Formats: sequence, structure tokens, C-alpha cells
Amino acid sequence: MAHPERFLLAGVMGWPVMHSRSPKIHNFWLAKYGIAGTYVPLAIRPEGLRAALRALPALGFAGCNLTIPHKEAAFEIVDRVDPLARRIGAINCVVVAADGSLDGYNHDGFGYIQSIVEAYPDWRADAGPIVVIGAGGGARAVLASLVDRGAQEIRLVNRSAERAQALAKEFGPPIEAAPWKERHAALAGAAMLINTTSQGMAGQPALDLALDTLPVSAVVSDIIYVPRETPLLAAARSRGNRTVNGLGMLLHQARPAFHAWFGVMPEITAELRAMIEATI
Ligand SMILES: NC(=O)c1ccc[n+]([C@@H]2O[C@H](COP(=O)([O-])OP(=O)(O)OC[C@H]3O[C@@H](n4cnc5c(N)ncnc54)[C@H](OP(=O)(O)O)[C@@H]3O)[C@@H](O)[C@H]2O)c1
Repeated sequence: MAHPERFLLAGVMGWPVMHSRSPKIHNFWLAKYGIAGTYVPLAIRPEGLRAALRALPALGFAGCNLTIPHKEAAFEIVDRVDPLARRIGAINCVVVAADGSLDGYNHDGFGYIQSIVEAYPDWRADAGPIVVIGAGGGARAVLASLVDRGAQEIRLVNRSAERAQALAKEFGPPIEAAPWKERHAALAGAAMLINTTSQGMAGQPALDLALDTLPVSAVVSDIIYVPRETPLLAAARSRGNRTVNGLGMLLHQARPAFHAWFGVMPEITAELRAMIEATI
């Protein structure tokens, strides 16, 4: 679909921002679908976020993504926040409405679920207990989407116990907080294990977690994608568990944003995946 009468614009606001793979993903799709437009990295200091977001309509932007450290602050600035993003408490996508007002969305949870279903089409959130490690922003998106997919039991474990307890209280059943020291034992009988902490990311130590009690039938996922295989995923794979890394989450969260801005729900092709993998 071409729009020769208009050059379409979107971008990602972050500080720093040049590490973001989003421009590569969206520009790949703009070219693939023959849409005249571009997606740019926007280095926005925290103190400039409000002005930058409010400038989007005047600049003719269809919207933008938000990355660290703007996801929570932008939530407070936009005019409307959709219900899922409200539960998550952060937005990663802004869409400029026809009247110039701003709508906020969070597509991380959608991206997460799609990445699992893409890897294992028979996966079900209600197949058994799910252990989630971590209680930060990534965890909130993953937890909200798991609950919406019908998860029956989620054991939430975080280094800072009070953060897990507060999150379990806020989200309610089926999420229950378990103490950090019981994280190894919490894996007994689990159908799924998800790491949402920064542990295992390039430059960080591995997640301190013994997998001995985890059933070999469990799916193990890590929302980290640098490196492509974290020590947790390597350990899980070597004992026979099915694994999923965070790259699919990154790729899939971009799809509804592209659709909202440019009117096409884009596909994740092998070529796109290989192009992004080559940057890791
Ligand atoms: N694939 C994707 O699209 C995607 C999307 C979002 C995030 N991510 C990745 O997810 C990871 C977390 O991001 P986030 O935004 O959720 O970060 P965040 O909000 O800062 O949360 C960090 C989490 O890691 C835990 N943590 C940090 N250091 C730890 C340690 N030494 N031992 C145990 N736990 C530790 C924190 O526990 P405390 O509460 O105790 O500090 C917290 O639960 C990052 O690697 C990020 O790149 C990927």
C-alpha cells in the first residue's frame, strides 16, 4: 500500500536510543509493503519527553514507540491509555489521533504471548503452574498477558520480596508471590518458567536458579534477547526443556504498532528475523 501524497513518519523515543532495533524492524516493513515513510530513532532526554510527545502531531508523526526510560513517564503524558496498558502501568506505543490527541498502548504482553505461540502453537497458559522470575516492567506486561490468556496459577518470585508481594496484591489471583530463597523449589511441577529479570543479559551474571525440580516437559522462556541464548536457556535446553528467547517478543510487539500507524498488520519473515539476529 503506497501513500504517494504523504510521507509517513514514526519513531522510537529513548535515552539512550541508538541501541534500539525498532528502526530496522519498521523500516524493513515500510519497504516490504511499499509504504512511503520512515521510522527514526529519537534521542529524547527525560525532561524533554512531554514536549517531544506533544510535538508529534505538528511534525506529522503517526506515533512513536517508547523505550527506557520513558515507558512510565509517557503513560502520564498521553491523553488516553488503553485498559491493558493501564494495568501494566506503562506504555510502549503512542498513536496520534486525527484531532492531534495521543493514545497510549502497551504491546509488550501481546508480543510475549505471540512469541510463545509462534514457537509452540500447542502452548496453553492454563496447561499448569507458571513460574515468573522478576517483578519489573517486563514482568508486568508478561503477567497481565498470561492472566488474560487464562493462566490458572502463577508463582511470582523476585529478589526484592516486597515488590513481588505488591504486584501479586495489585494483580490478584492467580498470581501468588513466593520468597526469593524458595525460587528453586518453586519450579516443582511447573509447566512453564519465565525469566523477566536482567540476569543473564550480556554484561550481567547468569540468573542464579537451579533447574533440578523443573519438569523436563516445561517450556522455559527468557525475555532477554542479547545474548540470543542466555545461560538459563542453555541450561534448560541441555536438560531437554523447550526454550524461547526474547527476540520474538521484540518482533511481535512491533506488529500492532505498525498496524496502528500505517494500516498494515505486518508479518515476521525469516528475512526480518535473520536481519535482526545479525545485529545481536
Ligand atoms: N524482549 C523484549 O521485547 C523485552 C521487553 C522488555 C524487557 N526486556 C528485557 O527484560 C529485562 C528486564 O527489563 P525490565 O524493563 O523489566 O527491567 P526492570 O523494570 O528494571 O526490572 C528488573 C528486574 O530484574 C531484577 N534483578 C535485577 N538485578 C537482579 C539480580 N542481581 N538478581 C536478581 N534479580 C535481579 C529486578 O529485581 P529487584 O526488584 O529485586 O530489583 C527486577 O525484577 C531486561 O533484560 C530487558 O532487556 C525484553
